[in-house]
Amino acid sequence: MQKITLNNGVEMPMEGFGVFQVPDKSQCKTAVLQALDAGYRLIDTASAYMNEEAVGDAIRESGIPRKELFITTKLWIQDAGYENAKKAFQTSLDKLGLDYLDLYLIHQPYNDYYGSYRAMEELYKEGRIRAIGVCNFYPERLVDLCMNATVIPAVNQVECHPFFQQKEAMAVMKEHHVQIEAWGPFAEGQKNIFTNDILTKIAGKYGKTTAQVILRWNIQRGVVVIPKSVHENRIQENINIWDFTLSEDDMEAIAQMDLGHSEIIDHFSANTAKYLNEFKIHD
Ligand SMILES: NC(=O)c1ccc[n+]([C@@H]2O[C@H](COP(=O)([O-])OP(=O)(O)OC[C@H]3O[C@@H](n4cnc5c(N)ncnc54)[C@H](OP(=O)(O)O)[C@@H]3O)[C@@H](O)[C@H]2O)c1
Repeated sequence: MQKITLNNGVEMPMEGFGVFQVPDKSQCKTAVLQALDAGYRLIDTASAYMNEEAVGDAIRESGIPRKELFITTKLWIQDAGYENAKKAFQTSLDKLGLDYLDLYLIHQPYNDYYGSYRAMEELYKEGRIRAIGVCNFYPERLVDLCMNATVIPAVNQVECHPFFQQKEAMAVMKEHHVQIEAWGPFAEGQKNIFTNDILTKIAGKYGKTTAQVILRWNIQRGVVVIPKSVHENRIQENINIWDFTLSEDDMEAIAQMDLGHSEIIDHFSANTAKYLNEFKIHD
């Protein structure tokens, strides 16, 4: 598994395992154990996914040394602000049963995220988090944060797949030395991505599946991917992407699939800001 060096020197695996929409504890624990067994070392959870305990259980049961793992969780909007963020960080650590995080991310660019980020900068400087970053920060917010923070975010996790390739946002991240990490690398299965004609044709050439081609394409563009699955065969399939390389022509053919916008969530819409701010994860 290839690793990428973040802007603070920390090494991050280029592929991880995501656990969004796996609220069932036993299913989540089983899936994470299967992922760890298959060779994934980066696990991506969030306080809002309601499964940090299950991830922690799987980590302990796997017996894999802590330093070999790269554990990410995220701070929800409701917990924004300096004091709240410090409390939420400790709650996440307790639920995961860990004493440090590899990556802590602001989940959404709403509420008092500057206060949150100041708390995260302190925790980072105290050595309780190895790297800090954000999610869903589009160029103007990302640049603003980079210009006003004392610690440049190491990672920006954004939706990124063949239908929404984030070309412009990637250029801005590159300029500010922020690593892009793709959420929804399969577009959450939308638009029949797994049976798309262009991807199916390319997959056939390499004896690979469309899922493997999609992940490989992002890896070759320097994008970290965190596919989710609750099926062991798919969990294994999705990590079996390190033995082939897409040609420049095939990379270009996929580049042509870009629609330039999300069909999952629009972070520029007032309704999204309202809906996400109203989404509560605790009293
Ligand atoms: N920061 C954020 O705001 C944010 C937002 C969304 C997601 N994320 C993170 O990114 C991770 C990945 O994104 P996602 O879970 O939203 O969506 P995704 O990984 O793009 O897609 C997951 C879907 O694809 C299916 N799938 C997985 N592998 C497959 C394969 N090889 N063949 C066919 N179908 C396959 C899964 O079904 P089965 O599970 O039934 O196999 C599931 O329905 C999340 O789990 C989470 O950690 C972050």
